[in-house]
Amino acid sequence: MGYQEVYQSWQNDPEGFWMAQAEAIDWVEKPTKALHSDNAPLYEWFADAKVNTCWNAVDRHVEAGRGDQTAIIYDSPVTHTKREISYFELRNRVASLAGALRAKGVEKGDRVIIYMPMIPEALEAMLACARIGAVHSVVFGGFAANELAVRIDDAKPKAIIAASCGIEPGRVVHYKPLLDGAIDLAQHKPDFCVVFQREQEVAQLIEGRDYNWHGFQYGVEPAECVPVEGNHPAYILYTSGTTGQPKGVLRPTAGHLVALNWTMKNLYNVEPGEVFWAASDVGWVVGHSYICYGPLITGNTTIVFEGKPVGTPDAGTFWRIISEYKVRSFFTAPTAFRAVRREDPTGEFIGKYDLSHLRAVYLAGERADPATIEWAQEKLNVPIIDHWWQTETGWAIAANPLGIEELPVKLGSPSVPMPGYDVQILDEAGHPVGPNTLGAIAIKLPLPPGTLPNLWNAEERFKKSYLNTFPGFYETGDAGMKDEDGYLYIMARTDDVINVAGHRLSTGGMEEVLASHPDVAECAVIGVADELKGQLPLGFLCLNSGSGRDHADVVKECVKLVREKIGPVAAFKLAVVVDRLPKTRSGKILRATMVKIADGQEFKMPATIDDPVILDEIAVALKTLGYPAA
Ligand code: COA
Ligand code: AMP
Repeated sequence: MGYQEVYQSWQNDPEGFWMAQAEAIDWVEKPTKALHSDNAPLYEWFADAKVNTCWNAVDRHVEAGRGDQTAIIYDSPVTHTKREISYFELRNRVASLAGALRAKGVEKGDRVIIYMPMIPEALEAMLACARIGAVHSVVFGGFAANELAVRIDDAKPKAIIAASCGIEPGRVVHYKPLLDGAIDLAQHKPDFCVVFQREQEVAQLIEGRDYNWHGFQYGVEPAECVPVEGNHPAYILYTSGTTGQPKGVLRPTAGHLVALNWTMKNLYNVEPGEVFWAASDVGWVVGHSYICYGPLITGNTTIVFEGKPVGTPDAGTFWRIISEYKVRSFFTAPTAFRAVRREDPTGEFIGKYDLSHLRAVYLAGERADPATIEWAQEKLNVPIIDHWWQTETGWAIAANPLGIEELPVKLGSPSVPMPGYDVQILDEAGHPVGPNTLGAIAIKLPLPPGTLPNLWNAEERFKKSYLNTFPGFYETGDAGMKDEDGYLYIMARTDDVINVAGHRLSTGGMEEVLASHPDVAECAVIGVADELKGQLPLGFLCLNSGSGRDHADVVKECVKLVREKIGPVAAFKLAVVVDRLPKTRSGKILRATMVKIADGQEFKMPATIDDPVILDEIAVALKTLGYPAA
């Protein structure tokens, strides 16, 4: 069957389609039906089944006689370490950690926050939670203590599992002080913490609260897999929204298993036993779906890479790993390729390695610019597949499904909707628009298995953020269009979310931090185009009248404040003091117009603008920062 037939077969019988895919999963109790819509517009898949994620990702491969196969390859150029863990070893390690968590009182439904760098123990911690039905929430290491505290207060974890440190090129990230600081800041206090002590830094433990990863497992009974309901949350993953309060995206257990398993063959075109590599971080959705769960559910070998595309030690790292471990499918963010290309435009490093096992490269996380795709096509000589998805969906909404059929690539498009997704382009009134017309991208409800059924403890916010604008549809927050062949083009966000080096960030969240500076009366943060990172945040600051402060000092303090409150990952380094912000007569800040000025694009003077002269002042201020870039 080709793509059209597969998509059509889903459209003809969506429930039958997913029930058939569910056959690939080991159930404790099989689902009697696929979709539960009694609570529409909230939907659930396979809710009446009983299943365990860890069993499907680990134990079943051991039972099937593949225990000796490598499950995880750890390659860490920043610590000069390489290690392989077999499925057999992984099962034992995860069962032991799960047993230790259980012995300390962690039970099905309890939340556990995981704050760890790219080491195999991060995956083991996730799987140990899944084994006993605990709900993990992984927090990215580039966030500051304050962000961790916000997540602690929202998820209310019984335990936090952390590492002593992370390694960024040129510096050690001291996780333990960040963890302690976050627990101090948070209202909710976990019962206990487990700390994995790394060689690079041994952290000081707080007696009675903190346990050493190894000591804590000593003498405990390993845990068996606990069956959970199909709609039991597998995890909560916080993602940026319009405000500084992140959204807790829920991932339902059964749909997650069924959908990810389907994607490994049909989209990423890998068979059990083959090596699949997603060069992302466990703190992001790509890390959840395609470093940890997807490849393990299918019985692939996955790679945990602790390094960067460049500088660890050079722009050949990706190619070394692909060659050394015979990677079949490789997944990264366009920004990583831009970084490599900038250092090695002619692909000299590529020529040094045998990449003959590589069949395809997948890009996601931000818009893949045609120049980057063309460079990769030419240098790697394999299909370069752009695909579009979000934390909320957990797997691709649109892609070129190589395992089904290789469709023609159209540059600038992540290709076509996957089965499960009826993607429509709507105008402001919610009416579908014709081909090649810009609009809001929406998905007809219900969303397919594996996508978010709700937000953690925030049903009203879920409805407001995703369901209310276009009744009967899920609002993606992206704007774009579809061409006459049904190919999608993702052009921009419709909200305050920006994408910096493939990291999703909230400009609203940054504004909240800037507004807390004592000299800042008002502010605005926009995302400006950046050649390497796609976008960069840029702040405009209006100071309190008569503040008398030196502008450069305030800017410096504001940059420091965002780094302290949100974290280095915000990459907030550009800010300028202005007298006034451009607004509509009703007081809405004209951020989109400011973006156009910064990017050097033509713009129409907004009809509702209060005072057009302010735009000239903004242009002058932007010039001082070098925008628009030459
Ligand atoms: N822990 C602590 N700090 C982190 C971190 C982590 N896990 N990840 C990033 N940071 C820090 C960086 O050290 C940097 O700090 P600095 O301001 O002191 O230099 C800051 O956050 C910004 O990081 P980043 O935006 O990643 O920029 P960079 O200059 O370090 O690297 C790239 C640029 C393009 C090489 C890098 O962004 C990259 O590899 N991007 C791919 C992203 C990706 O895979 N995204 C997942 C979606 S698929
Ligand atoms: P995240 O939730 O961090 O995965 O970010 C999701 C957002 O990143 C989407 O809503 C898009 O705005 C953007 N995005 C992800 N993949 C793509 C892509 N292939 N093309 C364009 N934008 C993308």
